Amino acid sequence: MGKRIYLCLAHMSEAGLEQKYIKEAFDTNWVVPLGPNVNGFEADLEEFVNANDNDNLNKRVVALSSGTAAVHLGLLAAGVKAGDEVIVQSFTFCASSHPITYLGATPVFVDSERDSWNIDPDLMEEAIKDRIAKTGKKPAAIVPVALYGMPYQIDRIMEIANKYEIPVIEDAAEGFGSRWNGQVLGTFGKSGVLSFNGNKMITTSGGGALITANEDEWREIMMYATQYRESYPYYQHEKIGYNYRMSNICAGIGRGQMTVANDHIAHHKHVQELYEELLKDVRGIKVHGNPDSRYDSNFWLCTITIDPDIKIKGQENAYKTIVKGAVGGAAGVIHAATSAHTDCEPNDNVEALRVAMDEAGIEARPLWKPMHCQPVYRQGEVKSLELRVKSYNSPIICQTSASSVAYINGVSEELFKVGMCLPSGPYVSDEDVHFIVDTIKASIIQ
Ligand SMILES: Cc1ncc(COP(=O)(O)O)c(C=O)c1O
Repeated sequence: MGKRIYLCLAHMSEAGLEQKYIKEAFDTNWVVPLGPNVNGFEADLEEFVNANDNDNLNKRVVALSSGTAAVHLGLLAAGVKAGDEVIVQSFTFCASSHPITYLGATPVFVDSERDSWNIDPDLMEEAIKDRIAKTGKKPAAIVPVALYGMPYQIDRIMEIANKYEIPVIEDAAEGFGSRWNGQVLGTFGKSGVLSFNGNKMITTSGGGALITANEDEWREIMMYATQYRESYPYYQHEKIGYNYRMSNICAGIGRGQMTVANDHIAHHKHVQELYEELLKDVRGIKVHGNPDSRYDSNFWLCTITIDPDIKIKGQENAYKTIVKGAVGGAAGVIHAATSAHTDCEPNDNVEALRVAMDEAGIEARPLWKPMHCQPVYRQGEVKSLELRVKSYNSPIICQTSASSVAYINGVSEELFKVGMCLPSGPYVSDEDVHFIVDTIKASIIQ
């Protein structure tokens, strides 16, 4: 088989700075989860997130072992505890919501709006009001997510969050360098999550960071990330902490990557533009772009939707075989699936297109399956109640189960059925984009 085109592969600086910083760590024996590379990477990240069109924000950053750890500590520092409820965007990767469950709290999933595909602020407010009415308690935090890098409507989200005095933890794991009205995502809320997993905008192989609002919050997160050890000559602990600090080796990769971060972002935006241009006249295929000038997505992954009436070659064979291993190289998938279908899956034409692309050597992937459709969040008896609220223009389904609550307007499920992620990383050339678009066109039955 020839060359394969992947969604987003790690890409190191031409100058090899990542290896230089790693070598320094070895040469000076800083092979620990602290040290000059960790401090240097945090300083670089602070410079990056504070460089806004409007303002210098003086945000502080803590480098952590993963983006999931950053979500966990963001929730903890916002005071989330067992028995609380936390509002979180349903249309996301599981790491936005799993840490809510780690803390013994309950995720309250909120569906998306159509422009950005991210959390619907109006529905979010209805969810807050309904939770207060039903439980007598407001949600303890709000977690919006920049899906595939696209900004969420953070001004509306902050307005509502401030009205009800609920802290916001921005999950900008996929949105490194995306901006809303010129301001970097992750800098609006109480804290902001970044991920440097191998497939992200920049990588530290695995890693993440939490952007904190000020010096005091930074200190608190630093304590939580390092086992919450008090300053005594011996180990004194007054709170439960975690071992979440980034390794000085990984941070060396991060320092090198920061020298190419803006190039990476520019490349992803260029690939997006090319998809928009080349697919603009293809009937039934729509590229998801910035809805208006307030949005400035990093286009971590470029995404398309495929109309249900578009026929794809081989569609009659979609979902005929049970998947044996990981589709798309996901690590740790060691179970074979037990069935070819689940109760909520992409349309047959989307699956057929994914298979056609795979056969042509192109990695494509369905959108994230909404969390309110995931079996893990539908445990025990699942009840659905229809709510009609004057200020919201369609019926809202309130779904409750033993493991979550959800406020559903149907948008994320609909998008999940028609959507697809396309390759967009630093190794995706113009020629590759032409080939991908040609493959899509050739797969459509006219
Ligand atoms: C939306 C979102 N949140 C959180 C994470 C968690 O990041 P990590 O994989 O670094 O733990 C990821 C990605 O991996 C993500 O896509």
